[in-house]
Formats: sequence, C-alpha cells, structure tokens
Amino acid sequence: MSSLPFPLADAPDTDEREAGRLLFAGNTDFLKGVVAMDGLPTPDRIEVCFAGRSNVGKSSLINALTGRKGLARASNTPGRTQEINFFTTTNGPYLVDLPGYGYANAPVKVVEKWQRLLKAYLSGRQNLRRAFVLIDARHGVKSVDDEIMTLLDKSAVTFQVVMTKADKVKEKDRAKVLDQVRKALSKHPAAYPEMILTSSEKGDGIEILRAIIAELD
Ligand code: GTP
Ligand code: MG
Repeated sequence: MSSLPFPLADAPDTDEREAGRLLFAGNTDFLKGVVAMDGLPTPDRIEVCFAGRSNVGKSSLINALTGRKGLARASNTPGRTQEINFFTTTNGPYLVDLPGYGYANAPVKVVEKWQRLLKAYLSGRQNLRRAFVLIDARHGVKSVDDEIMTLLDKSAVTFQVVMTKADKVKEKDRAKVLDQVRKALSKHPAAYPEMILTSSEKGDGIEILRAIIAELD
C-alpha cells in the first residue's frame, strides 16, 4: 500500500476473492425499479448503491460485477437510468443502481424529480451500508460530485470512490486525476480511505470490488 492518502485498494487475498466470486456467482436478479421513497423494498438486508454523474458507468459496473451484460440498462444516452433500480445477490446485499446526477439535458421538471428522489434516498435509507461514488478516471471530481459527497457527509453514509473507464485514460494522465480526487476527498469526513480503479469494459478492479462488497456486514 502506498503512503498517499486514499491509496488504491490492494488486491484481495485468496479467501476474499473467493467470497467475492461466490457472492456474484449465484442468482443476481432485477428486483424492482422505484420512483418514490415509499416504493423502496423492505430494508431486511444491507445494501450498497452506485451513485455518480450521468454516463459515468454505474449501470455498466453493475453488469460487470454480476457478469450479466444486460442486467442493468446501460446506454450511451445520458440519463438512461431514471429510477432507483434494485438487484439481488445470493444471501448478500441489494445492489442499487441510481439515476445519474449533473445531467441538464432533460426537461427541468423531470430532472428535479429524480434529483429529489436521489437525495432523499442517499440521506434517508437506514440499511445503506456504503455508497460507491463513481468518478470518471478522465475527468476527476466535479462540483456536482462534491455536492453529493457533502450530502453523504451530512447523512453519515460512508462512501467509497470508484474510478471508472480506466481503459480510456492514458497511464501518464492517471496520476494527475488521482491526485485531484485525493485532494477533493480529503475534505469529506465520510470518505472511505481507499479508492478502486475500474474498467467495466476490460474487467480491471472488478474482483476487488466484488471482494469489498462481500466483506460488508
Ligand atoms: P446514467 O444511467 O445515464 O446515469 O448512466 P450510467 O452511469 O449508468 O452509465 P452507463 O453504464 O449507461 O454507461 C455510459 C456509457 O459509458 C456507455 O456507453 C458504456 O458503454 C460506457 N462505459 C461504461 N463503463 C465503461 C468502461 O469501463 N470503459 C469504457 N470504455 N466505456 C464504459
Ligand atoms: Mg445507468
């Protein structure tokens, strides 16, 4: 592990990797899409959610984790996910795919509705064990990300940054973006002290993330 704050998470050991594999080897299924807080499933287990700017790769990451390409709807069109989508794992947490934020190109009323729901969910879900906040490895933390992180601070929800689309960033540009993210995270008390670098396209970081989710209780 490096001595920098917010290092990239170490590779899982054999047992951790196996736990992660098992969690996602069984039935991962779509449970339901929710458009209002009163539609949330009974909180009878823990859950983790995937938050991030529109198009950052939330749905693609869920597909990569579960090894099921079409499970969460991913698309080139920003604003694809418009509901809070719940997925089940075998004896594990719910995986929650959230609508993106920071997407201006939809009718204002519609966007406002998603954003209200998103914020209500992030601040008021008692069984939400960890929020994964996805950050594009090419772009780093933007002000809308910072706002969401502040909301998570206030709500005392631990969040962990997952850098996405690692395959799209050149090695030489990576360190600079990671430093920018580290600087932003240092201002957030709810930030988990390790990050994960992923590519849903190439599979980088997916085993680590599976192991991290399998460890939560
Ligand atoms: P919204 O639901 O609109 O908020 O978007 P999202 O965050 O769910 O993004 P989604 O998974 O739909 O992906 C957006 C686009 O990015 C799609 O065209 C994906 O194929 C692409 N994408 C996602 N992850 C990766 C990745 O790791 N590498 C590359 N190269 N492309 C990716
Ligand atoms: Mg989506």
